[in-house]
Amino acid sequence: MRIGVFCSGGDAPGMNPCVRAVVRSALAARQEVVGIYRGYKGLLAEELLINEEGEPLMHLRSVSNLSKQGGTILHSSRSEEFKTTRGLKKAARILKKHGIDALVPIGGDGTFRGAIDLAEHWGGRIVGCPGTIDNDLIGTDYTIGFATAVQTAVEAVDKLRDTAESHDRMFLVEVMGRHSGYIALYTALAAGAEVACLPETPTDVRQIIRDLRKLRRRGKKSIMVVVAEGDEAGGAVKLNEDLIAARCPFQTRVLTLGHLQRGGTPAPADRILATRLGDFAVRALLAGHTGMMAGQVDGELVLTPFPATVAGHKPIPDDYVRLLEVMAS
Ligand code: F6P
Repeated sequence: MRIGVFCSGGDAPGMNPCVRAVVRSALAARQEVVGIYRGYKGLLAEELLINEEGEPLMHLRSVSNLSKQGGTILHSSRSEEFKTTRGLKKAARILKKHGIDALVPIGGDGTFRGAIDLAEHWGGRIVGCPGTIDNDLIGTDYTIGFATAVQTAVEAVDKLRDTAESHDRMFLVEVMGRHSGYIALYTALAAGAEVACLPETPTDVRQIIRDLRKLRRRGKKSIMVVVAEGDEAGGAVKLNEDLIAARCPFQTRVLTLGHLQRGGTPAPADRILATRLGDFAVRALLAGHTGMMAGQVDGELVLTPFPATVAGHKPIPDDYVRLLEVMAS
């Protein structure tokens, strides 16, 4: 089997160890691997990784020392052309031309939607790995990159707490998560934030003001508000304006962490998850599976059909939200 591997959509720390796992597992099983640069966009442009012998094949040394590297050596992108029937047909022709009979896409919901569409025009097998910091995919407890993104965000909130405490201030820290509050929820819990604003829960400015006044009366000097970028109240900048207009009892400052959360050396949890899932995806392909995402649920490796993984956003655990409220006192 000749397996194509690529990364697509927003990059995530842990994509590199996942590529490494796909390559090493496939070679151990005496299969060939083609590295495709820049996701679907690179596929359409036939941007393949060429080895030292001038062949479009990855070998063991193509993935040396990748466990600890952030970003992705295969680069990533989002492609508008791939969303068209013309683009999909062109991709199928290119895959046939290069003798690729299976794919391991590493990415998030957009990547798997692309895989579903491609399967209508191409008969090869596809088993994907969940690579996104958002942790919003159904079919895996955690996505590759989430643990590192949370670690980065927690380190930032911890530092902000020091300066907030010195100045009796409140910080609103915006974290990523277009439709999902996972990063915000985990960051808030781990960093002991007083407020978390998530797309999955209502953000009520008046209630927040009441809570802040109570906390002030209880002697709180500093406040951390973690805001998911996709919160329905409009993000940290907008929320800050609304809180000031509602006579916020603390002086405020705003910080948007943005793409900082996508970089950095992957945390051990992401490296291990990436390695397990990359290997599992290859074994699933060899066993004849297709149209599936490799995931880990309760420690077990599982396959979930692509449509089910993107059918909705993974709900956040209610008990974590409750815990956050109890701790923020
Ligand atoms: O899906 C991953 C993600 O990092 C989201 O959290 C964020 O909204 C989006 O990608 C940002 O995308 P871009 O890199 O195109 O700005």
